[in-house]
Amino acid sequence: VTAGARADVAEMDWPRLEAAVAACRRCALAEGRTQTVFGVGERTADWMVVGEGPGAEEDRRGEPFVGRAGRLLDNMFVAIGLRREAVYIANVVKCRPPGNRDPQPEEVSACGAYLDRQIALVQPRLILALGRFAAQSLLQTDTPVGQLRGRVHRYAGTIPLIVTYHPAYLLRSPEQKARAWDDLRLARAQIA
Ligand code: URA
Repeated sequence: VTAGARADVAEMDWPRLEAAVAACRRCALAEGRTQTVFGVGERTADWMVVGEGPGAEEDRRGEPFVGRAGRLLDNMFVAIGLRREAVYIANVVKCRPPGNRDPQPEEVSACGAYLDRQIALVQPRLILALGRFAAQSLLQTDTPVGQLRGRVHRYAGTIPLIVTYHPAYLLRSPEQKARAWDDLRLARAQIA
């Protein structure tokens, strides 16, 4: 992605940003998608939750976290007294990687300006990064999630950012749920 294209996205308001994502062909993921998955929720939310990318169900419905991992995420919100509608939810990549493979570095970088702009428009008081892709791309690091979780980072040097396990991982490794609860409590404490 050229510096010019990034600068352009950085000026967009919500309607222009949404239209740009819907029409985006900046990377190969555009070929396989049913539709883009922009993001949902309260655009003035205190909490912004960032996942990896759409799965099959999200690709079909055009909304993030509406499949199995999404149901666990909703339960996690309920457990800490948050309504899904009160949170803004977006993904690092807006198109489904074929067969749910990992997004490639060039796909993450092609899509990154959209997420940065969503964060700038929402101005959340806290970012919760779910899993490796969200954590590593928002923090520009390759440190593993297990070492990033459990403490307070800063997105762009300002907004508090907490890393926790991806709900799809928690479905496979329920023994890690206690750690995820600790992370959510730590997140909530940042804006209490
Ligand atoms: N996993 C994600 O990371 N994002 C979604 O929207 C759904 C599943």
